[in-house]
Amino acid sequence: MCCRRLTLVAFASFLCICFSGCRSTPPGKLETKSVQWVKHHVTVRGKKDRNPLEATEERIQAGRRVFGYYCVVCHGRDGQNTGVPFAAKVSPPVPSLADKEVQSYTDGQLKWIIDNGIFPSGMPASHGTLSDDEMWQVVLYIRHLPPAGSLGEPRAYSGDEYQDSPDTKN
Ligand code: HEC
Repeated sequence: MCCRRLTLVAFASFLCICFSGCRSTPPGKLETKSVQWVKHHVTVRGKKDRNPLEATEERIQAGRRVFGYYCVVCHGRDGQNTGVPFAAKVSPPVPSLADKEVQSYTDGQLKWIIDNGIFPSGMPASHGTLSDDEMWQVVLYIRHLPPAGSLGEPRAYSGDEYQDSPDTKN
């Protein structure tokens, strides 16, 4: 009896998640939590992979430059969406990389996300564009993000230049 009830509850939650996925309104709290759980425990791999690079200031800054070139248009220079006009409007929204949910991924999982992207959201895969070392440097930068807003807005939106270049000091 107890088991049957549990099965029913599980089935009902499953349906709830399925149907809420078809809505055009922003995802509810339960749905967001379920999706996050599945990502953290099932879809995002690389949990045990360790960052082979030690966190030196030089490497963190190298990660910041790579980030300022490849990730800036969606995540802002500070990884916290500063100056990104659509960040909260896309579905799923672009998260602040300083959030607990993001920071609770292991280094290996962050590297996996950068490598493979998150399908079917707008988060692109960097496989083939960034080297392993560059991806690990970006992981170091995500672990050492500056205070929100401290780096200003992406140049793409302030009109100076299309994107921040890895060669310029930014
Ligand atoms: C075209 C826009 C875009 C670009 C460019 C982009 N991202 Fe994202 N990113 C997103 C979106 C949208 C999400 C939310 C994905 C989700 O929740 O499924 C996201 C989520 C993430 C997450 C958190 C994933 C999670 O499960 O919470 C990390 C970490 C991340 N991005 C890192 C990066 C890095 C590093 C780069 C550059 C190499 C980058 N992103 C480039 C749009 C982008």
